[in-house]
Amino acid sequence: MTQLQNPSPLAALDQANKSLASHPKGGISAPDQVTVTAVTHWTDKLFSFQTDRPPDFRFQSGEFAMIGLVDDEGKAVTRAYSIASPHWDDHLEFYSIIVPDGPLTSRLRHVQIGDKIILRPKTTGTLGLARLRDGQRLYLLATGTGFAPFAALIRDPEIYERFEQVILVHGCRTIAELGYSQKIVADSRAHPLIGEMVTRQLHYVPSVTRENFTQTGRITTLLADGKLASSLSLPPLDPAFDRIMICGSIGLNQDIAAQLLEKNFHEGNLSSPGDYVIERAFVGDGI
Ligand code: FAD
Ligand code: A2P
Repeated sequence: MTQLQNPSPLAALDQANKSLASHPKGGISAPDQVTVTAVTHWTDKLFSFQTDRPPDFRFQSGEFAMIGLVDDEGKAVTRAYSIASPHWDDHLEFYSIIVPDGPLTSRLRHVQIGDKIILRPKTTGTLGLARLRDGQRLYLLATGTGFAPFAALIRDPEIYERFEQVILVHGCRTIAELGYSQKIVADSRAHPLIGEMVTRQLHYVPSVTRENFTQTGRITTLLADGKLASSLSLPPLDPAFDRIMICGSIGLNQDIAAQLLEKNFHEGNLSSPGDYVIERAFVGDGI
């Protein structure tokens, strides 16, 4: 892991657009390929992998890119993937579901060190700090692979400069599905450059819904009954102080947004930064 430099959002987009313009539409030229350098399987449905990082690939922590593989007919099969590594890291990391008959992940699940992956140069996304007003606390609410963008953001020093406390809630069905977020948080706390900030300012709340665990229940329930805030000795959610990023299934996103609207939270965008932002972790009903 090397430089902690943070290009401005505009510079990053400009760079991404220049790279995109230099490639034939839909084609796979060498600069659109990266090499897999590590793979970890967490459960039979979840794995993460790292790749090398092209020197001119720039992004903001929390953004997603299109990645993929070439199919048997030589056609590129690409899907949106949140980049799970922070913008300053010298490698790229992704956290993936396995959809048994999924056009991409039924094959991506077999990637090994040395394999080539398609990585399109353009990055984008709504989970950006520029879309949020200043505040005291930042809540990051994720289910399943929706944790991926937050794996990048909790390792970005900027969130600890903007917010006194960062509360990361990761909801899954089973304890095993928390393995990746548990490891990322533990490694971040021990990291020589960001560890002190993370240890002091990040609260990690893993919760499962289909097994007994130290914390159980859906994120929506933990928010609605006030248990989340009270278990951390924090005041109830208040738009004067709290900012929120959400990344999960469409159902989770809608249910949390409905709760926030009732409390007078306003969704943020680039022209009008607000109190919360939302991104879909995937399109469809889930597996
Ligand atoms: P698809 O044909 O794409 O999906 C088939 C069905 O599987 C979907 O309709 C849906 O019901 C279900 N499904 C797909 N992805 C998921 C998922 N992640 N969790 C639960 N159910 C799912 N996926 C990741 O694994 N990691 C990411 O970081 C990630 N980031 C994304 C960011 C954005 C903005 C969007 C829109 C999607 C993201 N996805 C992510 C989903 C990803 O684009 C693919 O859908 C996924 O990799 C499956 O691809 P597939 O071709 O195998 O199946
Ligand atoms: P549950 O087990 O009660 O369905 P999935 O693997 O289906 O994407 O779910 C990941 C986690 O998100 C599970 O703990 C699941 O709880 C929870 N979940 C699914 N839908 C919602 C929703 N609409 N609101 C809150 N939590 C949800």
